[in-house]
Amino acid sequence: MAADFTEETAAKAVVDSFTDTRDPRLRQILTSLVEHLHGFVRDVEPSMQEWEQAIGFLTATGQMCSDTRQEFILLSDVLGVSMLVETLNDRKPEAVTDSTVLGPFHVVTSPRREFGDSIDEVGDGQPCVVTGRVVSVDGTPLPGAGVDVWQADAHGFYDVQRPDVTPVGNLRGLFTTDDGGAFEFRTVMPRHYPIPTDGPVGQLLTRTSRHPYRPAHIHFIAEAAGHHPVTTHVFVAGGEYLDTDAVFAVKQSLVRDFVEVDDPQQARRYGVTAPFRHVQFDIVLAPTGA
Ligand code: BEZ
Ligand code: FE
Repeated sequence: MAADFTEETAAKAVVDSFTDTRDPRLRQILTSLVEHLHGFVRDVEPSMQEWEQAIGFLTATGQMCSDTRQEFILLSDVLGVSMLVETLNDRKPEAVTDSTVLGPFHVVTSPRREFGDSIDEVGDGQPCVVTGRVVSVDGTPLPGAGVDVWQADAHGFYDVQRPDVTPVGNLRGLFTTDDGGAFEFRTVMPRHYPIPTDGPVGQLLTRTSRHPYRPAHIHFIAEAAGHHPVTTHVFVAGGEYLDTDAVFAVKQSLVRDFVEVDDPQQARRYGVTAPFRHVQFDIVLAPTGA
């Protein structure tokens, strides 16, 4: 006869129920999940009312999800889980550019743009020039690499958040590096912005007296043949919220000076008006064979 389900035997009873699981990885994951979950419940000792509240919170989180909104990923982001998964999967040679979260505003098809093009289709904001090179760990330039970029505008919104105000594709671009592995584009200075707060995750932030802001940044995905792709950001040095990013995604190695340039000759060279800001952001990729 099976032993009674008690506080002491509960976790083992459930773990034992997975004995016949054929996939060993699935069995490992479920075993660890149950052990941690039961440990958490024993630690917190929720009342029935708190347990119902927790179920209500998770239900509301699921109900907030749609084709264009992923509240569970946002929950994972504000609990630091997304960055932890990212970091665990990013063990690589030190010289390689650090990765950080993808975020919910990436679109599969950024507009294809040419070297030196502007990704700004609105003209609202401080002009900014971004230059860089994609190289391998040994410094070899990677011509023909793909560089997908996207960012929030001067008001802190992505194009997809206000399709009635900004054209879709604004402040996005898919570039290909030149023969020297270089990329270059014109844009406007990104601004810090709040993550979406109109759902359960926003309530969690309010209840814990946390702000919803992300520091100003530009997103990048760089990929080149024979190399691991990297999903990352460049952050604006000196910007607000660098120390308290709502999703814990700042790495010091990704913070750069966006230097103020007041030289008309340089402005002409890049096709902008002075004064403008300039950032150099080189991206180092790890070879797949290494
Ligand atoms: C973003 O940088 O676009 C982002 C990342 C995580 C949550 C919300 C936004
Ligand atoms: Fe972002």
